[in-house]
Amino acid sequence: DTQLPGDLTRVLYSKEEVAARMRELAAQIDEDYADQDLLLVGVLNGAVMVMADLSRALRIHCRMDWMAVSSYGSGTQSSGVVRILKDLSTDITGVHVLVVEDIIDTGLTLSYLISNLRSRNPASLKVMTAFRKPEAAQNAVEVAYVGFDIPNEFVVGYGLDYDGHYRNLTSVGTLSPHVYS
Ligand code: PRP
Ligand code: MN
Ligand code: MG
Repeated sequence: DTQLPGDLTRVLYSKEEVAARMRELAAQIDEDYADQDLLLVGVLNGAVMVMADLSRALRIHCRMDWMAVSSYGSGTQSSGVVRILKDLSTDITGVHVLVVEDIIDTGLTLSYLISNLRSRNPASLKVMTAFRKPEAAQNAVEVAYVGFDIPNEFVVGYGLDYDGHYRNLTSVGTLSPHVYS
């Protein structure tokens, strides 16, 4: 099933394509973290869908925690200002941490998060993202697991929002410019 409301111009990835890719990444993560105590850190709000799918596709034990940060406000451009709206509930000292993101666009959110989390001395710190845009390459943030590299268009669905909307679309598509221009 592919939802395509009038505000989307094109579906980039269907529900099925996204699900299949998340299962592939989960299998890789299963291998890489076998016998390790893994903490998935979901970045609210966008990562809720990825977290729900990835965590349930894993066969290894894992725990989940959440951080809420925001850099976008209500525009379509990253402001570059990252605010922590909610911090982790757990101490990650000595813990294997995998940050779970829906998308890396400029990479600003992630580079802030990584340096913040690294200062807490986790056993290891890696990143998984469902989607990544080209600009992310300019920020030297290493991403261990990438679902899809996508073109530099404004996309919504599967957790990705425009002003809070469209997160619950099961597919991922490009937002028609008439919505935000
Ligand atoms: C979005 C997205 C990432 C971040 C990526 O979050 O979920 O967290 O922007 O952008 P960047 O690489 O340019 O920093 P947003 O700040 O919109 O908050 P949200 O997850 O609540 O939508
Ligand atoms: Mn986010
Ligand atoms: Mg957002």
